[in-house]
Amino acid sequence: STVIEIKLSDIPEGKNMTFKWRGKPLFVRHRTEKEVATEAAVNIAELRDPQYDKDRVINPSWVIVLGVCTHLGCVPIANAGDYGGYYCPCHGSHYDASGRIRKGPAPLNLEVPYYEFPDDDTVVVG
Ligand code: FES
Repeated sequence: STVIEIKLSDIPEGKNMTFKWRGKPLFVRHRTEKEVATEAAVNIAELRDPQYDKDRVINPSWVIVLGVCTHLGCVPIANAGDYGGYYCPCHGSHYDASGRIRKGPAPLNLEVPYYEFPDDDTVVVG
């Protein structure tokens, strides 16, 4: 289906879960307080694709992104790489815990799809 509904309490803090949405992997990441603070403090002038974390999330505890590397489309590995967010093993792209590209060949941040939180325990993507 074109819309996916995910129960947030199934995803513990510090974990990233992968869902299939519109034929693509969708990452839902429950960030730790430390990750939230780290990503909020990034100087965006240092970024290849400059974006504030606050412009990529609705609730800072939750990162919702497509699990599609913006280089050539491989699926990155969660909680890996030099920035602790995602690491794409195909050609070595490192993303932070906001899904922003930090190192390696990928040109852009992981894409944020349209989503809403209809209640405290639910995200609806699409
Ligand atoms: Fe991810 Fe090339 S497809 S680094």
